[in-house]
Amino acid sequence: MKNDKIKRTLLEALAKAGKIIRSHFGKEQKITKKGEFNLVTEIDKASEKAVVDLILKRFPGHSILAEESPAVTGSECRWIIDPIDGTTNFAHGFPIVSVSIGFEQNGRLEMGGVLDPTRGELFFAERGKGAFLNGKRIHVSKAKTLTDSLVVTGFPYDRKQDPDHYLSLLRAFLTQVQCIRRTGSAAIDLCYVACGRFDGYYEMKLNPWDKAAGMLLVEEAGGKLTDFSGNPLTLESVQNLATNGLIHEEMLRSLEPFKRLG
Ligand code: IPD
Ligand code: CA
Ligand code: CA
Repeated sequence: MKNDKIKRTLLEALAKAGKIIRSHFGKEQKITKKGEFNLVTEIDKASEKAVVDLILKRFPGHSILAEESPAVTGSECRWIIDPIDGTTNFAHGFPIVSVSIGFEQNGRLEMGGVLDPTRGELFFAERGKGAFLNGKRIHVSKAKTLTDSLVVTGFPYDRKQDPDHYLSLLRAFLTQVQCIRRTGSAAIDLCYVACGRFDGYYEMKLNPWDKAAGMLLVEEAGGKLTDFSGNPLTLESVQNLATNGLIHEEMLRSLEPFKRLG
């Protein structure tokens, strides 16, 4: 597979989606609901169409896993797309949104890009070649303890079914870390771990499109990714933990009572 053509396509698709998101940001959105709290706007769909159309024009046989449309299967090359990560933020005009594209070959992530169109920040990683923010090499932070760590988390859309699980997880960290944030975009959370703005991130029940690109960013920036039991993180893992590596064991110890949550 020609990596430069993949890279060019991935970056072009991010730019196209970013332009659509930016031009509609802060305006009133046409919203439908996929669940009580789970929104989708016309712009999620427009962004996804722009990305998928471009990829399939360049690579007609490739597989696609995109949030808002049925999966296209059959190729060992697969593109994993979140057309707007942070839809709730987008719908409210809260400026933390991203578009995320991962590229996988034979089940292994090879490339990933996340664009924050409101800040003009482009995160990109290619396996074995490092992670970058706007072309500059990035690395995870050097924080060694939870007390010195800024940790980020998120809350899944099914939180009404079992709020106590998510609250007890939050409680476990609240008294141990320097502070906790919730941005509303899992892709941004992972990229911020990759560039050292956050030291650790945990969240239950992410979808593959939320994390595909961000996972490679963290890996290539020198971070560590596991589930709550310390097993390597996969796109299917229900429990997700990403850190700078240095605080990983300490976070795993705090997550010990939650290993069985699913
Ligand atoms: C959501 C965001 C959020 C996370 C949710 C995701 P969406 O994605 O990444 O940060 O907490 O679990 O579903 O719905 O905005 O694409
Ligand atoms: Ca998402
Ligand atoms: Ca989305």
